[in-house]
Amino acid sequence: MRQNFVAGNWKMNLTLPEAQALTSEIVQMMHDELTGPAPQVVICPPFPLLAGVGHLLGDSGNPALGAQNCHQKESGAYTGEVSAKQLQSVGCKYVILGHSERRQHFHEDDALLAAKLKTVLAAGLKPIFCVGESLETREADETFDFIGKQLKDGLFHLSNEEFDQVVIAYEPIWAIGTGRTASSQQAQEVHAFIRERVAVAYDAQAAANTTILYGGSCNAQNARELFSQADVDGGLIGGASLKSRDFVEIVKSF
Ligand code: PGA
Repeated sequence: MRQNFVAGNWKMNLTLPEAQALTSEIVQMMHDELTGPAPQVVICPPFPLLAGVGHLLGDSGNPALGAQNCHQKESGAYTGEVSAKQLQSVGCKYVILGHSERRQHFHEDDALLAAKLKTVLAAGLKPIFCVGESLETREADETFDFIGKQLKDGLFHLSNEEFDQVVIAYEPIWAIGTGRTASSQQAQEVHAFIRERVAVAYDAQAAANTTILYGGSCNAQNARELFSQADVDGGLIGGASLKSRDFVEIVKSF
């Protein structure tokens, strides 16, 4: 279902006490300040903090709990890894997959991500699937080809029913953590392209129903302009999700 949506990706930041303090502030501010229909909010802490943060989120499903990664196998001898079922058992509803930091530092390719998607969906979790080009790719004028390939090789093997569960995040690598955000026009044209690719791979209804987030230096100052674009349904927020005031201002930017 297409919906206004904001996810906070905490990456490898915060201790449990820090994470719990931040979570309590976000929950309180959302309760006090949100008027009208709330966007779906998801908080994605590092693995060891999931349960301790999840306890503070309440039963309403908003905010919901999400993870930042998941192993592609169901269980077994994979020391140091975490399964979809384990995430589900501590209250996760969402999992970020294919973040550019995982593609870059942990060599996750489209085939691996395609497998992870299947596993996550089989466990009843909703993937937040990330795509996005490097600066080099953008400057070579290859952005659309590159993202089209990421979608085709990583995502479009899913059935219609499976695809229904997926949120897509467009995160240009050159905008992540750099303070250099995409212009609203740059974001809109890629989001429109993604929606059009979904229409071709599935159908017009699937395209109309897909939630597509923008990520990359999205903050309390630029969120409203980005979220006002026709095909931008919200944001995947890194740095600004670590400050309760900034994050909640973004949540209020629809
Ligand atoms: P940023 O990160 O908001 O700090 O740029 C976004 C992300 O990596 O998801």
